[in-house]
Amino acid sequence: MKLYAKLLLCSICVAFIAVRWSAPSFNEESLKGARVLVTGASTGIGEQLAYHYARLGAQIVITARRGNVLEQVVSKCREMGAQKAFYIPADMANPSDADLVVKYAIEQLGGLDYLVLNHIGPSPYQMWDGDVQHTRWLLEVNFLSYLQMAQKALPTLEKSKGSIVVVSSLLGKICGPFALPYASTKFALNGFFGGLQNELAMQKSNVSITICILGLIDTDSAMEKIKGYINMTAYPSHEAALQIIQAGATRQSESFYPWYTFYATLFRDWFPYLRDKVIQNSYTYNP
Ligand SMILES: NC(=O)c1ccc[n+]([C@@H]2O[C@H](COP(=O)([O-])OP(=O)(O)OC[C@H]3O[C@@H](n4cnc5c(N)ncnc54)[C@H](OP(=O)(O)O)[C@@H]3O)[C@@H](O)[C@H]2O)c1
Ligand SMILES: *[C@@H]1O[C@H](CO)[C@@H](O)[C@H](O)[C@H]1NC(C)=O
Ligand SMILES: *[C@@H]1O[C@H](CO)[C@@H](O)[C@H](O)[C@H]1NC(C)=O
Repeated sequence: MKLYAKLLLCSICVAFIAVRWSAPSFNEESLKGARVLVTGASTGIGEQLAYHYARLGAQIVITARRGNVLEQVVSKCREMGAQKAFYIPADMANPSDADLVVKYAIEQLGGLDYLVLNHIGPSPYQMWDGDVQHTRWLLEVNFLSYLQMAQKALPTLEKSKGSIVVVSSLLGKICGPFALPYASTKFALNGFFGGLQNELAMQKSNVSITICILGLIDTDSAMEKIKGYINMTAYPSHEAALQIIQAGATRQSESFYPWYTFYATLFRDWFPYLRDKVIQNSYTYNP
């Protein structure tokens, strides 16, 4: 390679890194009293999201299917400093539940500043077994309910200059094995909410949308799934949750956690042959 070409490549890399480091700073005070709805908050990253919002003095409504677990999360949120904390059990496979949850949150909190969409339905971690019906159901839970809640909340968010935060995955950017129904729902989310970002901007909307791309996070459900299939570092869920909250509060269009998800997304299409070899060799497959 010519020296000029190397210098050019170097400066492009430096520019990328500079852009990553110059993210707007986060003012924790801005979340005091913020009206927040978090889905999938009974366990995992959603539970951690609830605790961070509580600690920062927000007013929160949380949802998931298991009311008894949500009740415990809510009482911990009150202890941690939430101005208000309520829960509503709901099954996101059911479109009318999705509507009801948004309605309940708006009634309880008198409006909404953040709609944080995080829930996912359980899905087996295995090679594609041809079960289309499961994928159809999972699209309802992981994808269509997000649209349902977003459209229901948009008028209120428009008034409050609020935000929609969508928790997505690197598996919605790169085609990995063993979780095809799940990955399809994440590709669908990235496509839909990425397009909606452009439409809202074209309409000069007051609402921001943040799409969060996560790598492997150490929640019980994720650890249980990947055991024996892949050996890779899982990052802490409380840190992932804080990063999601910051990205939403600073109205970033896309956020990446941990660091490698940004570079994986960036270089995804540069060396496709190599990329697919790395993917195929990273996993253990014992038929
Ligand atoms: N963990 C990771 O490695 C990882 C990596 C990339 C992206 N992410 C994303 O991060 C988010 C959270 O993941 P997580 O690992 O924290 O998941 P998790 O621990 O499995 O939690 C899923 C949540 O969704 C709820 N839920 C499940 N089915 C539901 C349904 N039908 N209706 C309503 N709620 C339902 C669960 O509660 P109930 O059972 O009480 O309903 C639970 O609160 C997801 O969007 C996931 O795709 C995670
Ligand atoms: C944004 O909010 C202002 C009020 O602050 C309102 O007048 C305007 O119509 C809103 N924009 C949209 C696109 O609804
Ligand atoms: C996973 O990787 C770590 C570090 O590379 C190694 O110490 C550990 O033994 C590996 N575990 C398995 C089950 O392969």
